[in-house]
Amino acid sequence: MISNTLRAAALIAICWIAFAESTPETSQPAVDPELVEKGRAVYAAFCLACHGAEDVAIESPSNLFDREWHYGNEPEQIERSIRKGILEKGMPAWDQMITDEDIDSLVAYLLSFQTTTDDTDE
Ligand code: HEC
Repeated sequence: MISNTLRAAALIAICWIAFAESTPETSQPAVDPELVEKGRAVYAAFCLACHGAEDVAIESPSNLFDREWHYGNEPEQIERSIRKGILEKGMPAWDQMITDEDIDSLVAYLLSFQTTTDDTDE
């Protein structure tokens, strides 16, 4: 059942990647923009269903787009949450399911929201 969902999500991701490549984004000074774009697609495929889209940030199970982290905000801690999951809460362990490179891109993607909030205030 899960794998059907994942397969459908992967298809969406492929379209998303194609779209992302045709419209390169510029301004993300603190993080590698290409990695962030890749992370956006991986997120859409595997994470969006539970965590929501960035523009409809949700409180539950955990809003990944605000600056509040329940399990640590360091890149290593975020990576650990993704790899090992938080099984008792229903967050799967992605270690065996997505590649190291994709996990790196997810961390970059999530961190990009932590570094850009400051200059959007005024
Ligand atoms: C089946 C639903 C589900 C999916 C799919 C899912 N998550 Fe989660 N995630 C959760 C739950 C539940 C938590 C725990 C929330 C809590 O306890 O605050 C969580 C927590 C997290 C945390 C820790 C957040 C914090 O506040 O420290 C991170 C990071 C995270 N998820 C990233 C991801 C990424 C990246 C993906 C995609 C690869 C993903 N999640 C897919 C349900 C999911």
